[in-house]
Amino acid sequence: MQLSDKKAMLSFSDGGESIELPVYKGTVGPDVIDIRKLYGQTGMFTYDPGFLATASCESSITYIDGDKGELLYRGYPIDQLAESCDFLDVCYLLLNGELPNKEQKADFDGQITYHTMVHEQLHTFLRGFRRDAHPMAVLTGLVGALSAFYHDSTDITNPEHRHISAIRLIAKMPTLVAMAYKYSLGQPSIYPRNDLTYTGNFLRMMFATPCEEYEVNDVVERALDRIFILHADHEQNASTSTVRLCGSSGTSPFAAIAAGVACLWGPAHGGANEAALQMLEELQANGGVAKVGEFMNKVKDKSSGVRLMGFGHRVYKNYDPRARLMQETCKEVLEALGLQNDPLFKLAMELERIALEDPYFVERKLYPNVDFYSGIVQRAIGIPTSLFTAIFALARTVGWIAQWNEMLSDSDYKIGRPRQLYTGSPSRDVPANR
Ligand code: CMC
Repeated sequence: MQLSDKKAMLSFSDGGESIELPVYKGTVGPDVIDIRKLYGQTGMFTYDPGFLATASCESSITYIDGDKGELLYRGYPIDQLAESCDFLDVCYLLLNGELPNKEQKADFDGQITYHTMVHEQLHTFLRGFRRDAHPMAVLTGLVGALSAFYHDSTDITNPEHRHISAIRLIAKMPTLVAMAYKYSLGQPSIYPRNDLTYTGNFLRMMFATPCEEYEVNDVVERALDRIFILHADHEQNASTSTVRLCGSSGTSPFAAIAAGVACLWGPAHGGANEAALQMLEELQANGGVAKVGEFMNKVKDKSSGVRLMGFGHRVYKNYDPRARLMQETCKEVLEALGLQNDPLFKLAMELERIALEDPYFVERKLYPNVDFYSGIVQRAIGIPTSLFTAIFALARTVGWIAQWNEMLSDSDYKIGRPRQLYTGSPSRDVPANR
């Protein structure tokens, strides 16, 4: 962190003593006011529910400029990474800070491939779930359970343990997601195959059966790999902050990532892709493009409680760069699969066209986010809606681990412990005659 020449002055209207607060500069983006000594100096806390103006940590992994609609992983623009790299390049980059050279890439791919199988007893554990359980409920349980199977990589003070648990998590997530899917179908799990790519292997574990092989289609594989790249990290979002907060207590890496999975499930976060596709399907069933105007009126009417899912973002106040790439991928996949007249894609394009011209959305700077088109791509590939958030969790695992590792390597790291503005009853006695 670089100290700025500028200082912040905090004064009080009741004549209390003013205090000076240090300001730190980042490489790009807003400066921060350091309030760590504020309580000691004034006896006051700051109040910022939802972290609207609070930097919870220092990080050098991912940068978002919400006004420009820019997303950088370790300084590289997301569109360049999506064009020239595969998901494991991006994983290496997020974990290590630089893109791998040929030897590093071969070694990293080898390490990940070697760890894709899960302990056989995890299959027994899986059988304890109901077959109709939501895949995110199953995944939260399976990821948390990894702590019970891999004790040899849970010493968080040991960098080698941290490395192995990172590799294990990235490698095993596709296996776990595919296991959850197969279980819901009542089909046996398909074991990973080491001669396939990370994404090709996942597709095969999802769609092959013991009696029928699955031929991996290049366009589909590339599209899913791109979905993974676009979801790999997104700085201090709700699930990443959850992983950091949970991990700050010193808990096992698998437990911290399970907390991230649980947080991601919510419809305002990772669950939005599922909600966006459901919204499109419902609208299609109720009149499609002809009813878009009526639907938009409902969205704008706050009392209806209806939101345009896949639109709006806490940080992006411009087009989400991931949405642009996703729209492009959507066209490619639909064409490759002969689905270019897909009614949901047409409906999504029409909703987007109307929203981008409507003062309600323009004034509030609401643009499509990554989830607006990713559901259509996944549906075309054959992934069921209920599994969308699990795919997001698979991809985000590397971001969670990179951020967790960064936190543990920071010499200033402390357990996360927010304070509060208490508005309950002051101390009182329990009545004697209740
Ligand atoms: N449809 C209709 N109105 C909206 C929408 C929407 N999708 N999003 C925000 N608004 C309105 C909201 O009603 C509010 O209006 P007003 O100022 O008149 O009260 C204004 O825009 C600001 O909204 P907010 O809820 O205060 O904004 P936020 O930053 O707290 O919420 C959000 C961000 C993503 C939760 C929200 O935009 C939303 O619910 N979007 C739909 C769900 C969605 O697509 N989520 C995926 C996010 S991207 C994936 C990820 O990175 O996790």
